[in-house]
Amino acid sequence: MMSIHIGAPSGAIAKRVLLPGDPLRAKHIAETFFEDAKLYNEIRGALGYTGTYKGVRVSVQGTGMGIPSIAIYVNELIKDYGARKLIRVGTCGAMHENINIRDIVIAQGTSTDSSIVRNIFGPTINFAPLADFSLLTKAVECAKKLNISAKVGNIITVDRFYDDDIDNDRLRRYGILAVEMEAAALYILAAQYRVQSLGIFTASDHLLTKEVVPAEERQTDFNDMVEIALETIIQD
Ligand code: HPA
Repeated sequence: MMSIHIGAPSGAIAKRVLLPGDPLRAKHIAETFFEDAKLYNEIRGALGYTGTYKGVRVSVQGTGMGIPSIAIYVNELIKDYGARKLIRVGTCGAMHENINIRDIVIAQGTSTDSSIVRNIFGPTINFAPLADFSLLTKAVECAKKLNISAKVGNIITVDRFYDDDIDNDRLRRYGILAVEMEAAALYILAAQYRVQSLGIFTASDHLLTKEVVPAEERQTDFNDMVEIALETIIQD
């Protein structure tokens, strides 16, 4: 039975799922890393594929940009298709002087300006969306084994890409490493449904230096991150 936004029969999606924002990145991951990749969804162009990586069944689903979009796909992947390990592989803006463009950032936790937390917990509780500790430690080990440096810490998931009002200096002072737009929803939904989730990012731009990774170089950085994510997600 298909879900509202994913046109796949039940059983067509693995319990391990990578989540890029860009659907064309889902296609790239399937074509570059999977064996026997099979397209299971193209509703709204949100491409999803299932294949195997080193003999383990894995899916990749494009989520679109922002919390409302990723929340739809993650809800349906978990509730309708039985996803149990979900790793977002995305780009982020580097916020901190310790992060350079092209660096890989693993989000131990994510702060957010989104109302999603308040909508669930009300005005008194500032729930802390956290990565699954086991996926987090495995990802750090995988990065080391692959000789890819990765920084671990707190990020921020924002609702506005274009935001003239946000106080980035304060966020930086409190150690926020990077900014992106989806991880908080993933971590909160994983907590709600008691599944495992993690977010891994490559810095595509820098808010301090204004540097941007040229489009043609993004794929290489992206592949390093995907390798960490796949080596992590295939473990028990
Ligand atoms: N802001 C928000 N999300 C992002 C950015 C950014 O600068 N870069 C990549 N995703």
